[in-house]
Amino acid sequence: MLEIETERKKLQEHLDSLKSQRERNVMGQFSTPYPLAEDIMRYLKSLVGTEETSLFEPSIGTGVFYSAFADTFGIGSKALGIEIDSHYYAPSSDLWRNYPLEIRHEDFFTARPDRQFPLIVANPPYVRHHHIGKELKQRLQALSLQRTGVIMSGLSGLYCYFLILSEVWLQPGGISCWLIPSEFMDVNYGKALKQYLLENVDLIRIHRFQADDLQFSDALVSSCVVVFRKAEPNRETEIVFSLGGSLCKPTRSKHIKRDEIHAAQKWTGLFDDEFQEETCTDILGNYFTVKRGIVTGGNDFFIVDQSTIDKYGIDKLFLRPILPSPRYISGNVVEEVKGGMPDTEQQCFLFSCNLQENILKKSYPGTWEYICHGISQGVPKGYVCSRRTPWYSCEDRLPASIVVPYMGRSGTGNRMFRFILNKSKALTTNVYLLLYPKPQYEKLLSDQDVLLQVWKALNTIPPDRIARGGRFYGGGLRKMEPNELMSIPAGELNNLLRGPSYGVQLSISGV
Ligand SMILES: C[S@@+](CC[C@H](N)C(=O)[O-])C[C@H]1O[C@@H](n2cnc3c(N)ncnc32)[C@H](O)[C@@H]1O
Repeated sequence: MLEIETERKKLQEHLDSLKSQRERNVMGQFSTPYPLAEDIMRYLKSLVGTEETSLFEPSIGTGVFYSAFADTFGIGSKALGIEIDSHYYAPSSDLWRNYPLEIRHEDFFTARPDRQFPLIVANPPYVRHHHIGKELKQRLQALSLQRTGVIMSGLSGLYCYFLILSEVWLQPGGISCWLIPSEFMDVNYGKALKQYLLENVDLIRIHRFQADDLQFSDALVSSCVVVFRKAEPNRETEIVFSLGGSLCKPTRSKHIKRDEIHAAQKWTGLFDDEFQEETCTDILGNYFTVKRGIVTGGNDFFIVDQSTIDKYGIDKLFLRPILPSPRYISGNVVEEVKGGMPDTEQQCFLFSCNLQENILKKSYPGTWEYICHGISQGVPKGYVCSRRTPWYSCEDRLPASIVVPYMGRSGTGNRMFRFILNKSKALTTNVYLLLYPKPQYEKLLSDQDVLLQVWKALNTIPPDRIARGGRFYGGGLRKMEPNELMSIPAGELNNLLRGPSYGVQLSISGV
């Protein structure tokens, strides 16, 4: 490590501390830990060889990559960095004044290259699309199309444009290396980026970090490193998909032929060799239909507790038990207490009513008063309520015996994507996915012993396998849609339910 690195790290921490979390979010200002920058540089050195090289960093911050570069490759020929924010630009320029590093105080998207570089390494700002102004978005989309022929989705984060538009700064044959969120590999907007990596350049490697790679902060858990060469895609060589550990020492690696990969498929499943996603037919959807819980149109109004019920005198005809948010459910079993209520600390009810106003006014004045309270709060004007008649009537749903929080985060006390056995009559809102047995298994699963075994088996499905079927977001967050959960390989249920015909036979024979 260079001596100056200690000074740079201190400077980074000081500058970060002067900004709020929100400011840093909007500008995508989260710096790379030095050990990671060093790991990346060591890997790149093994790729580039010993020849002298020079570095371009399009969003340099305080220059952590340059620091690791100079230590790994030697000071070398003149490097260049761009930084838009004077808060980082000025102290950073001062820090590196005695090194052959030029830092330009510019916006990467308007800066023009006066030369091309053999090496680009970047941790671009992870600014989400809703923080990118409309005009800038349109300009970046037009530029991407014009320079690379790629049509970028309007939902793309700023980092996608950084990667695609850096091409003009890279020498032919040069290496480009990007520390970016993994989510592009799974979400729809990422398709254009995947297409670019497969068709416009020679993709060499993607390394994905894992939750237990403790050397990295949580914000980087769902990041990956993408490495490619500015060259025609090489159909002879294979792309390396490595997972966990570090770039220099991954936990495991897979080599996959370029022709076997498509931009339309999810790529996070490619890192594992536990199973072949495309060919697995023993999936959870064979046994269960998965639906999202109720979209109320305003939980503040439609989810009520006893004090609100008492305050307005809401009639119990219009109340159904409902599970509280998953964060209030510590174990994986919800017992039933009296009246079908769940034995949770928070006792909540769903308010839903489909009677006409005149009947309510006359026969249920307390309930009507509560509806008037909702009107005064503007609830009927919301997107969901304004499309419903009457606006205070929620969808009808049956309680499900097995429910799954639709969002998961690694590293929390609870298992990510846990299957909760709901013994109560409580419904759920859309923060849960609900598992309803397919008709041929309904009878079998109405037996509490079978249900218990199936629930236990579901909780033995490795969380990683489930997470792979969903979507990766920043900060280690994963989300799951009903159809994604139904596509999860679930061989664990096979022994218990013994294939689709078993349930049918049992139902027919009346067992
Ligand atoms: C994720 S940080 C990375 C900083 C540094 N490269 C590192 O890895 O620690 C991204 C940096 O890009 C800067 N940035 C944001 N938008 C930019 C733009 N349009 N042009 C140049 N720099 C930009 C931010 O101010 C921030 O310093």
